Amino acid sequence: MNVLGIETSCDETAAAVVFNGTVVKSTIVASQIEKHAGYGGVVPELAAREHIRNICPVVETAFLESGLTAADMDAVAVTHRPGLVPALLVGLSYAQGLAAAGGLPLIGVNHFLGHVYSCFMAAPDLLDSPREFPVVALVVSGGHTSLILLAADGKTVMLGRTLDDAAGEAFDKAAKILDLGYPGGPVIDRLAKNGDPGAVRFPRGLMGESGKPVAAEDRFNFSFSGIKTSLLYHVRDRDLSKQELLDVIASYQESIVDVLVRKTVAAANEHDAGSILLCGGVACNSCLRDRFKEQTEASDRRLVIAPPKFCTDNAAMIAGLAYHYVEQGEIVDHAISANARLAEELEDVPFTPLAPSRQARKHRAEDDFPGDIDF
Ligand code: KG4
Ligand code: ZN
Repeated sequence: MNVLGIETSCDETAAAVVFNGTVVKSTIVASQIEKHAGYGGVVPELAAREHIRNICPVVETAFLESGLTAADMDAVAVTHRPGLVPALLVGLSYAQGLAAAGGLPLIGVNHFLGHVYSCFMAAPDLLDSPREFPVVALVVSGGHTSLILLAADGKTVMLGRTLDDAAGEAFDKAAKILDLGYPGGPVIDRLAKNGDPGAVRFPRGLMGESGKPVAAEDRFNFSFSGIKTSLLYHVRDRDLSKQELLDVIASYQESIVDVLVRKTVAAANEHDAGSILLCGGVACNSCLRDRFKEQTEASDRRLVIAPPKFCTDNAAMIAGLAYHYVEQGEIVDHAISANARLAEELEDVPFTPLAPSRQARKHRAEDDFPGDIDF
């Protein structure tokens, strides 16, 4: 089954063609980074205007590179939440038009779950390995920093989330303070390699550093607004040498990475997780990736990190996830609406090994098989 995926939730216009949920036939991403760089962050109306400009050529290129056409598609999938509403509406309207014109099913996909699914595209065997569950997934991007628990039957629990800024925002805002450009994550990642991560002790939010124990409900929550203020105070009115600046950058990154790794490993230990998944734009960070590898090497826990091109926003994860909804027989609703927010309660997912819809499909396939033949 071929699914066309469309993604316009933030500042990337993306389209992809994915076969049977994991075989990426094409994935095209048009980034608007340069348009927003001068503002130090994404401007929603500007993003929407750029999506309008880019959506047709991006989809056409995705078809061209896949060697397929709209007539070869079995479904259209589109991110409809969470995200910037003006931006989401562009992809959604386009997908609605395309699906209606082609008489195709239209699947609205949760962008956050799309990020989680990107790890399953990187390690498709997980789709059929119940023994590697439950998994703890850290979704860490410009819009999200959340820990979720995913059971083999597809049940999800939001273990924690950021109470203020997302980790990606903490990188982007630091880069703005230090005048390093936008987005901050990649440049901080690069510069931190030449600095001393132990030079400055930046605060670790919700880790009990203030002497007060962390409240039980905040154990797996995050807070990154304090570190940003601390950076502001640290560099204000100071004339830092180049090396001192690199040390500050490395220390700042260290603080974020330390919190992300410690909280994720603690959540995995508490829930006896078989695997840890790492996804979202900040999962491109080389220090974070290395630290997770070090932490899991000594354990018998599996680590799956989405490849960098599927960490940042893309449509392959949207098309891939949508395949499972189509297989499950999800009701097709061309009247899907855009929604800015991620619900407090996450919905169950259809792609885990023991998800009811996958079990039912397996039984159906077994019933169809002639089995032993008596002669
Ligand atoms: O997933 P994504 O493309 O968009 C959202 O859904 O938010 O993530 C973008 C975020 C930005 O905040 C960017 O600074 C961050 O990911 N990022 C990084 C790195 N590459 C991208 N953060 C740290 N290190 C990186 N190498
Ligand atoms: Zn994203």
